[in-house]
Amino acid sequence: GIPWFVKIVEVGARDGLQNEKNTVPTSVKVELIHRLVSCGLSVVEATSFVSPKWVPQLADAKDVMEGVRNLEGARLPVLTPNMKGFQAAVAAGAKEIAVFASASEAFSKSNINCSIEESLARYRAVTLAAKELSIPVRGYVSCVVGCPVEGEIHPSKVAYVAKELHDMGCFEISLGDTIGVGTPGTVVPMLEAVMAVVPVEKLAVHFHDTYGQSLSNILVSLQMGISAVDSSVAGLGGCPYAKGASGNVATEDVVYMLHGLGVQTNVDLTKLLSVGEFISQQLGRPSGSKTAIALNRV
Ligand code: HMG
Ligand code: MG
Repeated sequence: GIPWFVKIVEVGARDGLQNEKNTVPTSVKVELIHRLVSCGLSVVEATSFVSPKWVPQLADAKDVMEGVRNLEGARLPVLTPNMKGFQAAVAAGAKEIAVFASASEAFSKSNINCSIEESLARYRAVTLAAKELSIPVRGYVSCVVGCPVEGEIHPSKVAYVAKELHDMGCFEISLGDTIGVGTPGTVVPMLEAVMAVVPVEKLAVHFHDTYGQSLSNILVSLQMGISAVDSSVAGLGGCPYAKGASGNVATEDVVYMLHGLGVQTNVDLTKLLSVGEFISQQLGRPSGSKTAIALNRV
């Protein structure tokens, strides 16, 4: 059977906005995060402490953290690619972080400018430092079924990186189909390989909707016992270092499906729809959520 409760990790303010060409004002980001928290989302990824040369959109990470300093009711993790990012995140008040490795050697190079092994070495240092401060660390694995450069990725490569992240102390491993090429046909064997080395309670899934496969992929993941799902309000998103990757699966669509399945999320869909409307208006584009389009029409 599928889990009775699913934890949604809202990544719109980070994964969603990181790919935006036009600079989104810090005040809009801060308001977005506040509004997302008010929907009942328990985890709202806030920003990334990465190089502003690599991701200019998130150059205001420190100011975003200042704007959410007094926000209660949700965990607000931030991405950190190395010790420099970790230290900046802690100084800015972050209480939870995420590190991001890849199952693809080529993608690791283009996304964080180092090999998989080098990234794991950096993350061992980061998780060690985080442990001393009792800061929980989430681990991402990207390109879990396909890579924009290497093509198909073998499940054993994903399992290897996931296990390394788990062994170094990550409390949760999020498996990312960065370019959204996966189908249940490739996702199931990938999950089987990972579940053989990391307990299913520690796993989350992170789908981009490039080929419209996200909801099917989430459903098979739930059937395999996964109960944590990443998504972006209004389907915002895409990785700046993965050409052709479209947005994350829309949170509205995930919540609609989960509630239809009788799965609890603690998320208020009506409030979430208005947050989606807010950010779509700010970005000047239609929502990427089918549910939002359907429900705003009636
Ligand atoms: P590098 O150029 O190899 O770094 O980049 P470096 O250590 O050689 O330093 C170069 C410069 O960057 C120096 O500054 C450093 O101080 C600075 P300079 O002396 O030239 O003025 N620097 C930093 N500045 C701010 N924060 C830092 C930091 N580190 C160094 N943390 C680096 C290596 C990792 C920094 C770079 O490649 C980078 O920032 N990459 C981030 C890329 C990124 O954010 N990608 C998107 C997130 S991953 C994703 O979206 C996938 C996911 O959603 C899951 C999925 O979909 O599958 C998570
Ligand atoms: Mg992503």
